[in-house]
Amino acid sequence: MTFAYPAESNKAHPARLSPEYKSTVKRSPSKPLIIMRHTLSELTGPVYGHETVREGDADLTTQHKGEPIGERIIVHGHVLDEDGRGVPNTLLEIWQANACGRYIHVRDQHPAPLDPNFTGAGRAESDNEGYYRFVTVKPGAYPWGNHHNAWRPAHIHFSVFGYSFVSRLVTQMYFPGDPLFEFDPIFNSVTDAKARNRMVSAFDLENTKPEWALCYRFNIVLRGRNVTPMETK
Ligand SMILES: [Fe+2]
Repeated sequence: MTFAYPAESNKAHPARLSPEYKSTVKRSPSKPLIIMRHTLSELTGPVYGHETVREGDADLTTQHKGEPIGERIIVHGHVLDEDGRGVPNTLLEIWQANACGRYIHVRDQHPAPLDPNFTGAGRAESDNEGYYRFVTVKPGAYPWGNHHNAWRPAHIHFSVFGYSFVSRLVTQMYFPGDPLFEFDPIFNSVTDAKARNRMVSAFDLENTKPEWALCYRFNIVLRGRNVTPMETK
């Protein structure tokens, strides 16, 4: 277990203030942060109840009577620490828009249909090697009002705990080759190109299931020099 987390992580994450991403202007702190030492209980305390993850939570296409509309996909990969070792038995939670780009949320009222067979939330636990796997549908792009004609590239939100609360990562997984990347202030709030690309999944033909689903691989690194960037707060 890692007790001293390397500070390189901080360089990969987006600045709290990213003026192009307008809501960060009002909600980012105006004074420098005071960095506190981690306490032993932060590092060793339990982070969630394993019993809350049920079999089937990782398949977002079987939560309702019928199947959701959209392109069925497999999203899988490994949760790794800064030395490339798998992080076992860690909780991954995902949430996403449906295939039309609409969330089931009172704030999302843009003119795209909800899907009665898709909630858009799932959970999984990594296995002994840090491997995880979800089945879902590819989310659509959606407009978000940040500026004229602003559309988010298709993405899946991820929360990954790791060993402790201080290794928790909240990020977004993108799809390769999305034409909206260059116009998206959230994606570009991660200013380092290499770090930005760590948020983009890889098309994984080898693990595609013929006649059934395409596959994307998304490896997630918790802290350290190869950390997956956090989503902007
Ligand atoms: Fe989103």
